[in-house]
Order: sequence, then C-alpha cells, then structure tokens
Amino acid sequence: MKITHIFAPLVKRWIAGPYITDAIKVAKHINEKGMGVILNYLGEYIKEKEKVKRNLEEYIHLLRLIKFYKLDSSISIKLTQLGLYVDEKLCEDNFFELISEAKKNNIKVWLDMESSKYTSKTIEIYLKSLDTYKNSGIAIQAYLKRSLNDVKRIVKNGGEIRLVKGAYSEPATIAYKKKSEINKNYLEIMKYLFENSDKFTIATHDDKIIQESLKLSKIYMKYPTYAFLRGVRNDLKRYLLSYRFRVEEYVPYGEEWIGYIYRRIKEKKSNVLLVLTSVFTID
Ligand code: FDA
Repeated sequence: MKITHIFAPLVKRWIAGPYITDAIKVAKHINEKGMGVILNYLGEYIKEKEKVKRNLEEYIHLLRLIKFYKLDSSISIKLTQLGLYVDEKLCEDNFFELISEAKKNNIKVWLDMESSKYTSKTIEIYLKSLDTYKNSGIAIQAYLKRSLNDVKRIVKNGGEIRLVKGAYSEPATIAYKKKSEINKNYLEIMKYLFENSDKFTIATHDDKIIQESLKLSKIYMKYPTYAFLRGVRNDLKRYLLSYRFRVEEYVPYGEEWIGYIYRRIKEKKSNVLLVLTSVFTID
C-alpha cells in the first residue's frame, strides 16, 4: 500500500498531508475559521547530514510560503531535525539561520520539546538565541520535575513558554508518572506563568486545566493563547474562540508520521481503532 493511500484518511484528522502544499491549504482553511496555525514538518532524530540540510531548506521554503500567502502561522521545529542528533554546532548554526530568516518574514519559531536527553541542550540553544532574536518560543513539559525551574529561568530571560504535559516515555527519577502529579505540576507552572509572564501558551486538551486557566485569566487579567493539536477537541477550540481567546492549531505535515501518530495513540488508546479503521477501509 502506498504511503499516500495510508495518508488519505489520516490527513483529515491529525496531519495536513505529505506535502508542503497540503500544509498551506489546511493552514488557510484554519485561518478562515478564526484560528492561528503552528506548522510542523514531521521528522525527528535525523542522523544523515544531507537530510538535516533538506529539513532546513524545507522550513525556509515554508517560511516564504507563509509570508507569500499572508498566513497567520508560526512554525514549530524539533532540534533533532536540524542536526542535534549528530552535531550540536551544526544544529545551532541551522537554528540560527532559520530563526533569522523567520525574523525577516516576521514569523515566530517554536521549539518543540523532545525526549529528556535533549531538554538541556534545547533550552541552552533557545536561551542563546534570545540574545539576538525574540520571535520565538519553547515547549516545556509539565511531566518533568525540573520544569518549573526551567520556566523561571526562561521567563526571566524574556522567553515565551508553550506549556504541555509531555509526550515521551521518561523514567520516574526525572518525571512524574501519575496523571494527578503531572496535572498538579502543570497547574503550578501555569500559575507561575500568569503571575510572571505576559505572553504564554496553554497547550492542553484537559478540560479541568483549561477551566482553571480561565479563572486565573479573570484574576490576573491576562489572556493566554490556547493551542491544540489538529484533530483533537474541536469543541474546546470553538468554546474558547467564542470567548475571544486566541486559539491555535498545531498542524504537522510530511511523510515521517509514525512517531507522531504513535504518541497520539499512547495518549488515547481508542485512537488506535481510528487509525486501523482509517488504514484498512480504503481501496
Ligand atoms: P491528557 O493526555 O491528560 O488528555 C486530556 C484529555 O484530552 C483526554 O481525556 C482526551 O479527552 C483529550 N485528548 C488528549 N490527547 C488526545 C488525543 N491524542 N486524541 C484525542 N483526545 C485526546 N509534547 C511534547 O512532549 N513536546 C512538545 O513540543 C509538544 N507540543 C505540543 C503542542 C501542542 C499545541 C499540544 C496541544 C500538545 C503538544 N504536545 C507536546 C503533546 C502533549 O505533551 C501531550 O502529550 C498531549 O497534548 C496530550 O496531553 P493533554 O494535555 O491533552 O492531556
């Protein structure tokens, strides 16, 4: 079965499609519904320098298309796409080239947070970029025990946080494993953000956390951005839009979708049925 055949049904729900043109088309459609977009070119843990170079070129092309079509969209990248897996210096150079091009086009660059092996390096590269560039933000994972300290450091340096629960398998020595503990840490970091940051993103589909953030929004008179994954909790997106909050949809595209889909299935086991029915009901 060709990859594009498998894509057809999955496209509609979680991924824009295999090509950059799919990403642009979907982004336009989301903008028309009143939401911002965060575009991500799929792929991670890249070992080949040639592929790293192609990833950088893809993102630069993407920035130019976002500008050309006047899309309300940022991009979100993984540093292991840009060389962190093979050569830290190469990765840093690539990231600086990308963020500089994004700045010229007035587009924000988000750093996705990957497995804990890369947390410190990702934060260091981000903090270094803040000396020169402010058109950026970084995802921080509430399941990591270190995260509140990282958030404090980043906020003090003028950085912008996208707060997520975390999607990788991490050991109990460094990560909270129980949902209740992860949620507690999320709430604590979120409160810190309301108290200390003027611009941050709440990136969760969790009703209770979103309700709590709405209460804090009233108390602190601050209006965070809410970000959701494509294909998840469209009802919540509409609800927040109706209260005039900024809502963004994270939209991946590209052929390297396995890692991404795997993490979505891990979050919600019933998604496996969705994938299987999608894949096996096409002709
Ligand atoms: P939780 O998993 O507790 O789910 C709460 C409720 O949301 C569920 O009960 C269900 O109703 C719904 N839900 C959650 N996931 C679903 C799914 N896949 N399908 C259907 N319903 C679902 N992670 C990371 O490690 N690094 C990163 O850079 C990012 N970036 C990122 C950006 C954005 C915009 C979002 C929304 C999320 C991320 N994540 C991430 C993923 C994040 O860490 C986490 O794995 C997922 O968001 C799921 O966790 P929730 O916060 O939704 O809570």
